[in-house]
Amino acid sequence: MKDLIWDNALSVDVDEIDDDHRKLVELFNRLNHALENGDATNYVEAVLEELISCTIWHFRHEERLMLNYGYDGFEEHKAEHQSLIETANKMRNMFLQQGRQALSDEIEPLEHWLTGHILSTDMELGSFLGKVM
Ligand SMILES: [Fe+2]
Repeated sequence: MKDLIWDNALSVDVDEIDDDHRKLVELFNRLNHALENGDATNYVEAVLEELISCTIWHFRHEERLMLNYGYDGFEEHKAEHQSLIETANKMRNMFLQQGRQALSDEIEPLEHWLTGHILSTDMELGSFLGKVM
């Protein structure tokens, strides 16, 4: 699978959010490489845990900014985050129960979801924050 590339097209024009997104892209690529290289299961699990923890941390970061600046779309945006966290947790369980192929099959749809979320929901948030921060 091709690496995800973070470039200006993914920028939401808020540095602290872009920094988080860059880190998530890097972890996604690291997880893909670990799967493709046939790295040890406990290593793949560690990268997956790191990616999920970072994602949850990042979502809380965005949610704090939304609350801090009184963003109208808070509930909707948070609901999208929540559904992604549930999907990620399901993926971790599938990996632990069914092995790496199950994870490999799920990762591409998840990448599409994440880039879609950045390009729509996070862009809207970024243009709001750009005006009020
Ligand atoms: Fe978001």
